[in-house]
Amino acid sequence: MPDRVLYLIGCAAPPVRDFSTLIPLVQSQGWQVCVIVTPAAASWVDADALAELTGYPAQSEARHPDETTGLPKADAVLLCPATFNTLNKWAAGISDNVALGVLNEAIGLRLPIWVAPYAKDTLAAHPAFSESLAKLEQWGVTVLANELVRPANKGEHVVWERLVACMDQSPSGQL
Ligand SMILES: Cc1cc2nc3c(=O)[nH]c(=O)nc-3n(C[C@H](O)[C@H](O)[C@H](O)COP(=O)(O)O)c2cc1C
Repeated sequence: MPDRVLYLIGCAAPPVRDFSTLIPLVQSQGWQVCVIVTPAAASWVDADALAELTGYPAQSEARHPDETTGLPKADAVLLCPATFNTLNKWAAGISDNVALGVLNEAIGLRLPIWVAPYAKDTLAAHPAFSESLAKLEQWGVTVLANELVRPANKGEHVVWERLVACMDQSPSGQL
């Protein structure tokens, strides 16, 4: 069976800098991975290294009307790390960058979507954060715990295996 295609969308929060660890783990579960990052996260990643790892260009900028995306169609989407900013914009239906455009279309296409929020306690306590997550859940998005990829103590590494295990277990994983 050909690999399923996962769009891995990253925002400007520290774990996006560790995609080179996450991607092989996801690939080992039978996913082809295509990376899209927000414009704010673009300078946080090594796009060439990610393209080499995935076989697809890592995208952050809107394409020119004459260009194609160069990516295969997605079977599912993983938004990780999901910032306070992008979560609130997405829940409001804002599409002002490529990552948000893909996320909004994924809702319309009813694709399986996992979200790993990544907000510090003060932002997670803002009412907009829980309202946005609740709205996304109502729309069928699988929202993972804020603590899942956010280490309890500063300086600890993200345990990516926990995230990959959740993708296998959650209802969105039944493709
Ligand atoms: C070093 C650094 C760490 C940050 N960590 C987080 C974070 O963990 N969670 C978060 O929501 N925003 C974090 N931010 C703020 C976001 O980068 C900022 O809100 C940005 O506009 C998000 O853009 P995006 O959602 O389009 O990626 C961080 C910013 C910096 C400079």
